[in-house]
Amino acid sequence: MFRFALAAVMLTLSACAAPEPPRGQSVGAELDALAADGRAIAEAQCARCHAVGEYGESPVPAAPVFRTLLSRYRAEVLEEELINGIRVAHPMPEFQFNPQSTDALIMHLRYVQEPPSE
Ligand code: HEC
Repeated sequence: MFRFALAAVMLTLSACAAPEPPRGQSVGAELDALAADGRAIAEAQCARCHAVGEYGESPVPAAPVFRTLLSRYRAEVLEEELINGIRVAHPMPEFQFNPQSTDALIMHLRYVQEPPSE
């Protein structure tokens, strides 16, 4: 019975379009796969300037590290900006993301966020 309930919860979570996994925990293979896609996108397109993972400094000092981005940006806002092409005033190349790759990128961001420093 308990196992059944757990399976139902996992299904609901992975069916959700913009799931919010608890920080630092993985909630299922599908979300892990989504985040892995996002990591690949970040490494291919952003890592030249930003630190995209859990550790390290950005190659371009002015570019903020991704592991603290979501403490300043709401995921929804960032998602919109990525889809529309980021318009924040800065020397970034223009990006045009589709909703799928944006979801993946944001899931990756959620996975690597540091706990808020208090
Ligand atoms: C050519 C270098 C370069 C690349 C590639 C790049 N960025 Fe940036 N990005 C920057 C710099 C520099 C800043 C800071 C600009 C500023 O503060 O004026 C920045 C800022 C940002 C910000 C705003 C952060 C804030 O605190 O306001 C976001 C979000 C962002 N980048 C996301 C991305 C994503 C996502 C990618 C990959 C798809 C990416 N960037 C690729 C150089 C880059």
